[in-house]
Amino acid sequence: MDGITGLREKYLRYIAAAGDMDTLENLRLAALGKKGEISLKMRALGQMSAAERQVAGPALNGLKSEIDAALKARRAALEDAILEQRLQAEWLDVTLPARPRPSGTIHPVSQVMDELTAIFADMGFSVAEGPQIESDWHNFDALNIAPEHPARQEHDTFFMHRAVDDNRPPHVLRTHTSPVQIRAMQSQGAPIRVIAPGRVYRMDMDQTHTPMFHQVEGLAIDRDITMAQLKWTLEEFCRAFFEVDEVELRFRASHFPFTEPSAEVDIRCSWEGGQLKIGEGTDWLEILGSGMVHPHVLRAGGIDPDRWQGFAFGMGIDRIAMLKYGIPDLRAFFESDLRWLRHYGFASLDQPSLAAGLSR
Ligand code: PHE
Repeated sequence: MDGITGLREKYLRYIAAAGDMDTLENLRLAALGKKGEISLKMRALGQMSAAERQVAGPALNGLKSEIDAALKARRAALEDAILEQRLQAEWLDVTLPARPRPSGTIHPVSQVMDELTAIFADMGFSVAEGPQIESDWHNFDALNIAPEHPARQEHDTFFMHRAVDDNRPPHVLRTHTSPVQIRAMQSQGAPIRVIAPGRVYRMDMDQTHTPMFHQVEGLAIDRDITMAQLKWTLEEFCRAFFEVDEVELRFRASHFPFTEPSAEVDIRCSWEGGQLKIGEGTDWLEILGSGMVHPHVLRAGGIDPDRWQGFAFGMGIDRIAMLKYGIPDLRAFFESDLRWLRHYGFASLDQPSLAAGLSR
């Protein structure tokens, strides 16, 4: 029939050449759409004689399915090509190392606080807290520190502001963690086993002193607590904290207004070749102050000194952090130098636990 060969050639050629889906769709409409060339021819079958129709009908049907098949094949080919193109363009090397993400480190002071909290928790101590801006009474009077005691003098203590005509003693930035002893006694009564790590402030600045530093207070009160338990607790702590089996502590008689008797505690160490070793050698390093809680202090905390007694200690956290991790200068702790923090800081997953060991 007229034109069929021409149409076939034309559409097969165009379809083969179609480079994208839009072109292909336009070709489909042009051939097989409602007003497409082939559709119009099929519609024209109705006006033909039966004989003509018998020839033209199958020929047109054949053409229609041939074009249909060609369109489908071309569509599949184009889809494959598009997919191939995407696979090329969106290719990703999953074996490449990930982009570095800057991450901070845990400050040695925080790390050491976590470590000592874990160790004392194992010995039955819980953590107590108090304010850093402390009343004069909690920081001094309640701790049996008389008004004329040198620790009260302006050069040691930071005082808060009071209005000119306000004659109450000004609050202070706590000069030690010992006021938390009083707060713990008042809030929980006896018996007590607490530690209180935190910031303290003194007007002091040189290679081994900063105006803000950290202490941990310890307080154990019960019916029959003695210096022997104080000694055991501190030895046990040092063994676990410094990770040495043999630690030797030296108790030196001392004086604190809030303990009687009082002792300062040194730890045996050696400085061979500039390398500090805990537990051996002939040197001694002072690490804390301690003693049996003074009856005046128990009374100030609302505890009857005829029925209860106990020990207390105050240890410098920055000091023991320097000792354990070989950090030479205290001032660097608080300078926020990123290089220092990266070097001495800890990964956030270096969580202390007694079972896992404490070393990095
Ligand atoms: N508060 C004392 C200080 O800062 C340490 C200490 C605490 C001493 C508890 C004895 C008992 O030096």
